[in-house]
Amino acid sequence: MGIQLLLFLVCCTGGIHVASTSTDSRDAAVLRALKEQWKNTPPSWERSDDPCGAQWEGVTCTNSRVTALLFDGNQLSGKIPSTVGLVQTLEVLRLDRNSLIGPVPSNLNNLTSINELNLAHNQLTGSVPDLTGMDSLNYVDLSNNSFAQSEAPSWFSTIQSLTTLVMEYGILQGKVPQKLFSFPQLQQIKLRNNALNNTLDMGDSISQQLQLVDLQNNHISSVTLNSAYRNTLILTGNPVCTTGISNTNYCQLQKQTTNPYSTSLANCGTKSCPPDQGLSPQSCECAYPYEGTLYFRAPSFRDLSNISTFHALEMSLWIKLGLTPGSVSLQNSFFNVDDYLQIQLELFPSIGNGKYFNRSEIQRIGFYLSNQTYKPPPEFGPYYFIASPYAFPVELGGTSLSIGVIVGIGTGCGVLILILMGVGIYIFQQKWRAEKAIELSKPFASWGPSGEDSGGPPQLKGARWFSYDELKKCTSNFSESNEIGFGGYGKVYRGMLSSGLVVAIKRAQQGSMQGGLEFKTEIELLSRVHHKNLVGLVGFCFEQGEQMLVYEFMPNGTLRDNLSGKSGIPLDWKRRLCIALGSARGLAYLHDLANPPIIHRDVKSTNILLDENLTAKVADFGLSKLVSDSGKGHISTQVKGTLVSITSYYIETFWFRNG
Ligand SMILES: *[C@@H]1O[C@H](CO)[C@@H](O)[C@H](O)[C@H]1NC(C)=O
Ligand SMILES: *[C@@H]1O[C@H](CO)[C@@H](O)[C@H](O)[C@H]1NC(C)=O
Ligand SMILES: *[C@@H]1O[C@H](CO)[C@@H](O)[C@H](O)[C@H]1NC(C)=O
Ligand SMILES: *[C@@H]1O[C@H](CO)[C@@H](O)[C@H](O)[C@H]1NC(C)=O
Repeated sequence: MGIQLLLFLVCCTGGIHVASTSTDSRDAAVLRALKEQWKNTPPSWERSDDPCGAQWEGVTCTNSRVTALLFDGNQLSGKIPSTVGLVQTLEVLRLDRNSLIGPVPSNLNNLTSINELNLAHNQLTGSVPDLTGMDSLNYVDLSNNSFAQSEAPSWFSTIQSLTTLVMEYGILQGKVPQKLFSFPQLQQIKLRNNALNNTLDMGDSISQQLQLVDLQNNHISSVTLNSAYRNTLILTGNPVCTTGISNTNYCQLQKQTTNPYSTSLANCGTKSCPPDQGLSPQSCECAYPYEGTLYFRAPSFRDLSNISTFHALEMSLWIKLGLTPGSVSLQNSFFNVDDYLQIQLELFPSIGNGKYFNRSEIQRIGFYLSNQTYKPPPEFGPYYFIASPYAFPVELGGTSLSIGVIVGIGTGCGVLILILMGVGIYIFQQKWRAEKAIELSKPFASWGPSGEDSGGPPQLKGARWFSYDELKKCTSNFSESNEIGFGGYGKVYRGMLSSGLVVAIKRAQQGSMQGGLEFKTEIELLSRVHHKNLVGLVGFCFEQGEQMLVYEFMPNGTLRDNLSGKSGIPLDWKRRLCIALGSARGLAYLHDLANPPIIHRDVKSTNILLDENLTAKVADFGLSKLVSDSGKGHISTQVKGTLVSITSYYIETFWFRNG
């Protein structure tokens, strides 16, 4: 707490200066007030007092008026000041996934132009905000807050423009207003895990667009069904499911999603391509596409059969990524288990540029999508992107050994022997290839003891499987020049993936390996924690008796090296504070927000890494088990990070002299 306050003061006093502005003065004043009220605002806000002119991160302007504030997932803390209600041009307000507290200011409903409002996943209190008057509102999400218990607010029955209403894990009680179901554009109502009770009656005039009504885990005791409604209604976990309708679809978790969208390839007839290539919709030629998956966390629509929505996405992709029209193919859209809209994306090189993208293009496109510089049409909402590695062409030009050999041996006898040997080698090779193919087709078969298949590949979020050969290649056969560290578990190598991403690869050595199933559980766990102050897991390798973890590479090395002056970067007070605070946030996330909680066990300055902006990233959480006392034959469960070691870590951070 004290550290946060200190940092806040340091940051504020550093940022006071006057500049000529291109932002409307009223809006600029509001944003400056936000900067003062909130902690953890983006560093780009310190550059200038002119939000539109200096392009404050998260702020979108049109004609010097602020039209969108996109601050989702920024660890902002503080209250929502009532001045936000003064930015009347605001169309999008995303404050979800922060640590905002206090009540929602009542003048928020002055924002009459707003069409997307997302306050989910904060600790907001007070009564459920009154949104009456937001007559353009399409998408609203108020889930996971701490509002006071109440009936469905009156605006549930008045905002006719709604397409999506989300308020999950809340405290709503009473009846769901019937009027809500009749709003003409409404596509999804998501109100699971509330305390809604009484009877559910959707009425006779149900919106034609309505696709999903999710009322799981409420207290609804009876329901009046309307046979005209054929789309999804989920009532699992309500008392009504113990009665006569318990065997119906409504009381079972259903596979939803009808009419997934895929880009049409109908013009190309029945043409098909080799397995690693794809058919470009613009030319009907086979080429090597850049592929990946788009995950849209909160699309404002449910209906996947409206082709114009997806055409708009395709068009915005090719325009904003600088590709030629028709070079985008979307496949297999559906709502996944997290209820994110998941779409497979393929981008094709322009006609006349051959079958491949070159490296600089892949880097540019990958960066635009991965760092979210690309903005999809607004109805798709926030997203993230996970790219597949790109298959660059193999460079040809190797020489054939066998010619020299054959020329060297001239006699008929020699030739005969060679032929016999050749046949032998051929058979051996075929057999080896076949075995290899079988092994590759089941890379996860060996999780369980003695090769038995135990449950297929691990369920990872945002991390992927690497083959041993791939990692061997990107570290030049684990060469010494790529070694960047070592520890009890083995060595760490630097490598560059074919996508251009630089990674750090931790390779467990003999003796510090875990059982296959433990390794699988561990990577599943690691792939689930995502935080700005934790080193991110890119993937893993579990093959040929190897266990490797692939992490983001941190160019500025360990905090220890920086404190000792090895790196040559001076760590002044402000930087040290930011590092201490960052590492504390990472640890707090592991303790309080990771599920299940993770206790680090080994906090020390060599386990805190610094990225290119000197942001602290906690490393080696979860690896503590890999550091088992080899030889003793048991896994250490002792907690290493005691209060004393954490305290001494912080003392070191502040008092160790640079250089
Ligand atoms: C619904 O819940 C509220 C609050 O718990 C209660 O006052 C009310 O009687 C309940 N209604 C029915 C029909 O169960
Ligand atoms: C389909 O989507 C477009 C744009 O997203 C919208 O303008 C149109 O009204 C939608 N059509 C239907 C039938 O819902
Ligand atoms: C890559 O391709 C783009 C577009 O086709 C071209 O402009 C660029 O010069 C190429 N870069 C290299 C390094 O070949
Ligand atoms: C994302 O990448 C683009 C293209 O290189 C760059 O201009 C932009 O500053 C990056 N944005 C962020 C938030 O890193």
